[in-house]
Amino acid sequence: MRRIDSSAKWKDFVAELETRRREVSSALDATSRAALGQFLTPSSVARFMAGMFGVQGKDISLLDPGAGIGSLSIALIAELANRTEPPKKIRATLYEVDFGMARLLERTMKVCASLCAEFGIALEYQVLRQDFIEAATLACALPFAGMPNTEFDCVILNPPYRKVNGDSDARRMLRRTGIEVNNLYAGFLALAARLLKQDGELVAITPRSFCNGPYFRAFRRDFFSRMALHRIHVYESRSEAFRDDDVLQENLVFHAVKTRCRPDSVIISSSLSPLDPNLRIWRVPYRDVIHPHDPDMVVHVIADDAGRKAADVAEQLSSTLQDLRLTVSTGRVVDFRARPFLRATPEADTVPLIYPFNLEAGRVVWPRPHPRKPTAITNEEVTADLLIPSEVYVVVKRFTAKEERRRLVAALYDPGQVRCHVVGFENHLNYFHMNGRGLPLPLARGLTAFLNSTFADAYFRNLSGHTQVNAQDLRRLKYPSQEQLLVIADKVGEDLADQMAVDRAVEEALDLAYSI
Ligand SMILES: C[S@@+](CC[C@H](N)C(=O)[O-])C[C@H]1O[C@@H](n2cnc3c(N)ncnc32)[C@H](O)[C@@H]1O
Repeated sequence: MRRIDSSAKWKDFVAELETRRREVSSALDATSRAALGQFLTPSSVARFMAGMFGVQGKDISLLDPGAGIGSLSIALIAELANRTEPPKKIRATLYEVDFGMARLLERTMKVCASLCAEFGIALEYQVLRQDFIEAATLACALPFAGMPNTEFDCVILNPPYRKVNGDSDARRMLRRTGIEVNNLYAGFLALAARLLKQDGELVAITPRSFCNGPYFRAFRRDFFSRMALHRIHVYESRSEAFRDDDVLQENLVFHAVKTRCRPDSVIISSSLSPLDPNLRIWRVPYRDVIHPHDPDMVVHVIADDAGRKAADVAEQLSSTLQDLRLTVSTGRVVDFRARPFLRATPEADTVPLIYPFNLEAGRVVWPRPHPRKPTAITNEEVTADLLIPSEVYVVVKRFTAKEERRRLVAALYDPGQVRCHVVGFENHLNYFHMNGRGLPLPLARGLTAFLNSTFADAYFRNLSGHTQVNAQDLRRLKYPSQEQLLVIADKVGEDLADQMAVDRAVEEALDLAYSI
């Protein structure tokens, strides 16, 4: 059988498309790129995505919403054409709102159709210069109004990534269709799921942010009630998938099928970048990726060996924060709002203000000079609600820099070292407390060591792909029991700075035959 992608004409066509993609990418101005979320998929990623489809048949319909210059559709058409039994007919529907892109897309599809014809495949295509959100929400409301096809065998997409404001047209149209999202890419995915046939397949490359966190909760519940996850691929290096475009989001590719039958397991794979030939692949039980009774439907992306081991170990953790009688909250002092009350240096009427830069080697160190940040906040009636009793707490950074090794960075706030009656925690920190008051010191020491362990970091990464640590994410973790936390505290002693000692204490206390 002749493979389409081994023909010289096809190779030239795809090489030219890739050159065009680079040219278009580098010519895009920042405004249009931001407004339309224009990051074009490199051919290596497009081929990889197309290879995930299992769809078979004589007549296959495909949808490419936000098609750019067509890289994804072309990769999928090649994939279908290379099948042992290729389809006789492919019907492609491509939406692209950018006029210039749509013109290039039209040309690409025309050439593609004539190449397909040489291989006995009738490619029918429609390039629709329309807003996909508008067309698809209308089609969902009135299936026979306007949209040429409302039931596809497959959707391939790299949707635009952009916030949708609450009062925007896009948000209103989506809401009328029952879709509640605050990012365009989730809106595209939710609509794509609706436009698939039963057992139809979807492959998408998106930011990893939809997997967890409260903002995407409604989306996850909507999407995963229709779609079953079959595969997730993670690019470990943030910038590599869209290297030419300086994308710093952590991206993943996933394959999902429109069915209520969940597979037993999900294939998870990872590679450093699209150019990394060494894929690490494993199967994870479906219930470990989306827990069956989880109302938030968080997607746990277990992306490497460390994550896999951490997931096994996490099964043994017994306590929730409630069991430990702990709560986690976000620091109350939003510095730009509290500006009139902030002071560069401590004064008679001030108390300490704790920022992330005060966290050092497992402890809160105050005062600590900073060229741009205040050190203290006034203690007066108007600031009373911003301050909490100066007792023992565990504080965790809400944001870590992308090049930082760890996501979870915790420290013990010990009032014995920071003398004052009340204290302010700045909003870039989360803190663990007991109903608004402090924790017993040994428990806080054990919890700080646990959160700073290599294990907890790997466990947290299974849950969250961003550098942001939401209080909500910390509430979702399982923790060692109180007794185990006290054993950790005992083993680690006063020194919270020694990573090896922290890891050893956690491993021994949890009785883990485990090391990452
Ligand atoms: C992230 S790019 C991906 C392009 C292409 N799918 C690829 O992978 O190379 C998203 C594309 O969606 C287009 N787009 C943005 N908003 C759109 C909308 N509301 N309807 C249709 N296309 C849209 C942009 O112009 C851009 O070409």
